[in-house]
Amino acid sequence: MAAKVIDGKALAATVRQEFKRRTDSLIEAGLRPGLAVILVGDNPASRAYVRNKTKACADVGIYSLLSEFTVNTPQDDILRHIHQLNADPAIHGILVQLPLPPHFDLRLILDAIAQEKDVDGFHLYNVGGLISGNTVFPPCTPYGVQRLLESENIDVAGQNVVVVGASNIVGKPMALMLLQRDATVCICHAKTRDLAQFTVLADILIVAAGKPNLILPEMVKTSAVVIDVGINRLPDGRLIGDVDFEGVRQKASYITPVPGGVGPMTVTMLLGNTVESAERFAALRH
Ligand code: GUN
Repeated sequence: MAAKVIDGKALAATVRQEFKRRTDSLIEAGLRPGLAVILVGDNPASRAYVRNKTKACADVGIYSLLSEFTVNTPQDDILRHIHQLNADPAIHGILVQLPLPPHFDLRLILDAIAQEKDVDGFHLYNVGGLISGNTVFPPCTPYGVQRLLESENIDVAGQNVVVVGASNIVGKPMALMLLQRDATVCICHAKTRDLAQFTVLADILIVAAGKPNLILPEMVKTSAVVIDVGINRLPDGRLIGDVDFEGVRQKASYITPVPGGVGPMTVTMLLGNTVESAERFAALRH
């Protein structure tokens, strides 16, 4: 039987309603959640992501402040701006869109963000917290995947989960969050020899490698849950994931499409982290 296709767009719409209700309550109490987005340079994909994020904020009533800097902006100017935002009571979340141009010291920039406003979860404190299960904010893409699995009542405890891709943004935090929930986790990456020997063992396969058609049906266990985090643009403009969707859906029990799977949940969880942050600030006022 073909897999159930998990509709990330529909789930995102439902979850956003909840975040809108929480935003409305905060606004009634005199505090509008605020997200600051910093974009450096003119990477077209980053520009599109940022547009998506600020639009999503507007949809649920979150105030968003977009600061754009040219690629030649001195690093100190960005750091100064982050320090201003750290002190700004109208801002509860700060996000620096990645990738940054290569001459920036990524660690220095990310660690300048106040931990309690680090809604992307990339500050070293937050990253370290993933080890002990004490992050201030979980990073948005793995958090979105977790929410997708929960929405289908897929319990990860005791399951073999294989994460393909070891990026700081997705693969590594995803693996740690799953381990925290008692999954047996294996991380594969670009240097892994014979990827299929690992992927065939997966009850839950999470793919974030950025390679179209990396995962073929013969690499997937029958009835596995397959979560495709990849977003690849084909020369004809179409977006596809890392998984051979049509082939693998015949074998899996659940599968996420691209687009319309994990993507909408990433932005949604960013909204969630921002609302959560504003709620914490509101609680501190009393
Ligand atoms: N670039 C790709 N994914 C992300 C993300 O989740 N957050 C930020 N800030 N930049 C990204």
